[in-house]
Amino acid sequence: MVFEGGEGSGKSTQARLLAERWNAVLSFEPGGTPIGARLREILLDRANTDLEPRAEALLMAADRAQHVAAVLRPALNRGKDVVCDRFVGSSLAYQGHARGLGVDEIAAISAFATDGLVPDLVVLLEVPAEEAQRRLAAAGKPDRFESAGVEFHAQVAEGYRMVAAHNLDRWVVLDGSGSVDEVAERISAVVEDRLGSGPHAVAGGVS
Ligand code: TYD
Repeated sequence: MVFEGGEGSGKSTQARLLAERWNAVLSFEPGGTPIGARLREILLDRANTDLEPRAEALLMAADRAQHVAAVLRPALNRGKDVVCDRFVGSSLAYQGHARGLGVDEIAAISAFATDGLVPDLVVLLEVPAEEAQRRLAAAGKPDRFESAGVEFHAQVAEGYRMVAAHNLDRWVVLDGSGSVDEVAERISAVVEDRLGSGPHAVAGGVS
């Protein structure tokens, strides 16, 4: 299964907790492989003010192709459950909608990158913009995306909502506000409802 959400949505914390609970492989994008880590540096470096949106989208896709082939598929083939912090949905919301490249165009390059691997469940964590900003301000130095501005992040949130609304069979939108434990409870209820209560119920899909 996959966690999606904007900056400061708390998805990384929740992905870690769920993976521990389910004894699943935990991974993330961008940067979940050694090659991906180098792509992540380029993507997040604030000095790269001239990175073209299409180049950004293709670097995300390259990271994903490497991640799927080197980490996600091998883990799934071993029968492991997988929890992934960001996946195709991030590219649809950030590059497709917020950068204006087109959600359909990004879906097409993403399908090439994943070679058809789709998650069994995507949990989108939504937090009010002000709460996300507060959480971000408490974190360290902002990266290239975190410093992109309020309007950009509003576009990301809108993109996510659109993608979720078009994929109700696999996407669940959850309120990410409140304490870590409260949000974890909400997530567990949904995951168990959608995927069953045993850990192997998550196997076979990238969460
Ligand atoms: P991440 O490490 O999850 O950052 P955070 O923990 O701050 O949410 O992701 C890094 C950034 O990359 C994040 O700002 C979102 C962006 N991103 C995209 O724009 N497109 C993508 O396809 C992915 C995977 C991430």
